[in-house]
Amino acid sequence: MKGVILAGGNGTRLHPITLGPSKQLLPVYDKPMIYYPLSVLMLAGITEIEIITTPDEVPAFRRLLGDGSRLGISLTYAEQDKPRGLADAFLVSADHIGDDPVALVLGDNIFHGYEFGPMLQRLSRSVQGCYLFGHPVRDPERYGVGVLDEQGNLVSIEEKPARPWSNMAITGLYLYDNKVVDFARRLRPSERGELEITDLNRIYLERGEATLIPLGRGFVWLDAGTHDALMEAGNYVQVLEHRQGVRIACLEEIAWRMGYIDREACHRLGSRLAKSPYGQYVMEMAEAG
Ligand code: DAU
Repeated sequence: MKGVILAGGNGTRLHPITLGPSKQLLPVYDKPMIYYPLSVLMLAGITEIEIITTPDEVPAFRRLLGDGSRLGISLTYAEQDKPRGLADAFLVSADHIGDDPVALVLGDNIFHGYEFGPMLQRLSRSVQGCYLFGHPVRDPERYGVGVLDEQGNLVSIEEKPARPWSNMAITGLYLYDNKVVDFARRLRPSERGELEITDLNRIYLERGEATLIPLGRGFVWLDAGTHDALMEAGNYVQVLEHRQGVRIACLEEIAWRMGYIDREACHRLGSRLAKSPYGQYVMEMAEAG
């Protein structure tokens, strides 16, 4: 399975912060925002990942993450010259996807929950149709919203409905079989001029091939796309890391635990960052085994 991270857009809801840096490079406590969605794909066992961003921002992402080889993965970069919509990702990354299934994750989404990686590994081994992930929220009108029937089947999807029929937001992580590229080519821009991911998901829904997996109450899903959400996400990560003494979305640790790099390589990566508590954590963790 290939991975795609959509990290473009203008970040207008975060102005003036994003007049300088790209939204997905802003810090969420101790690491850049993109570490979080990238960690999700790495935990899912996906090692060939394309990052889509604006032509201006590609050098900054490349400077941060390189070609991925030091993490034992392959990272490529693709340009989206203007925000044509989330489903445009499958057109931009069509060559990268090739004949494989694909996982798309939005560059401002943060997921944290027990056994999430193993669940994604299981699902990604046999994707048929599309898998969406739902999470209950207080303000569903801000999101794509899914409605399940009593048997748990997905019966409708709406994008930012004024009067939501459920509180089940559809999160920014999507697993698709390879038909997604063809389906994306068939889409026409919506009234706001974008290729809508919800229209794409509806194609699967109408074919009876869309599954919505509710992420339970113990699961945390945050999107860091507004000032408050960014602050809350940072606070969440800080509290969790202080309390538990572990770091979430620590790419070096994940690369080692997933077997993409060995312990020595992990330790070396930590030592390059040794002046920061993050780097010290990586080194200590590799030393402890
Ligand atoms: O966060 C989950 C939600 O993401 C879903 O519930 C919605 O169904 C989905 O449409 C999307 O809603 P948003 O309003 O959050 O989408 P937004 O336009 O903010 O784009 C999400 C991220 O993708 C953002 O970090 C910028 C990036 N992006 C967006 C567009 C439209 C791109 O890189 N290129 C684009 O063309």
